[in-house]
Amino acid sequence: MVSVTQARAATGPSRVYLMCPPEHYTVTYAINPWMNPQVPVDTELAVKQWERLRETLGGLGHQVHLLPARSGLPDMVYAANGAFSVDATVYGARFTHAQRAAEADAHRDFYRELGWRFVQPTETNEGEGDLAYLPAAYGGTILAGYGFRTDPDAHRRVQETLGRPVVSLRLVDPYLYHLDTALAVLDDENVAYYPEAFSPASQRVLRQLFPDALLASRADALEFGLNLVSDGRNVVLSSEATGMAGKLAAAGYQPILVEFSELLKGGGSVKCCVAELRG
Ligand code: ARG
Repeated sequence: MVSVTQARAATGPSRVYLMCPPEHYTVTYAINPWMNPQVPVDTELAVKQWERLRETLGGLGHQVHLLPARSGLPDMVYAANGAFSVDATVYGARFTHAQRAAEADAHRDFYRELGWRFVQPTETNEGEGDLAYLPAAYGGTILAGYGFRTDPDAHRRVQETLGRPVVSLRLVDPYLYHLDTALAVLDDENVAYYPEAFSPASQRVLRQLFPDALLASRADALEFGLNLVSDGRNVVLSSEATGMAGKLAAAGYQPILVEFSELLKGGGSVKCCVAELRG
């Protein structure tokens, strides 16, 4: 494992991300199988771990915008769920659960201020939680998950809004309820995924599209080893995900591990906390 400074030299073009600090983060309700309001959460430690992630991305040469946290929205730290953008066009989120509904407005305000075209969603969708973009695969392809959160009707809307082919994939494991817990974009054209998180037909689609994909085990996925942020070379993931880190290194990527114990309690890891802004 190398330090962030050593890794920086090897970074590709820098990325632009959006993160929201976990100052109001806690687990008071359960909307996925990971969340248990009985298990205590150390919010101060969550803030420290989140800060370290932010510094790590900055240290790799990437730009990180901040979305101010709003009280009463403990899951707002999972900024990936707030929208999905390509070509400075943003398809807004519409959350499945009432507890998170108001987060969508905070994201909308951010993008409007940025001057990007914002499209108000009509169907339920949780942004980058269920939508992933591969710039070079077949001229720019969006992979879209459904089964637990995002309405498959939103997939068609995303294709019409962003003008990229959208491939719908059905998720079947309640612990891997968002696409970004079951599949990760590693570089412009390749992915890592855990096959059994998808329906048999969707597994077949994935095999056709990505014959050289990096395959993860269920253990890797349950350690949130697929909930990673990659710039095409450096891959940031939680320190629990040691098996996945080894597989990434063997495939030629540079894994960078961050402690993320507190935010895992909400059912999310590194990728859930980072939205990519594609201008
Ligand atoms: N507690 C949040 C929820 O259930 C976690 C969201 C995780 N985000 C993600 N992109 N997978 O909605």
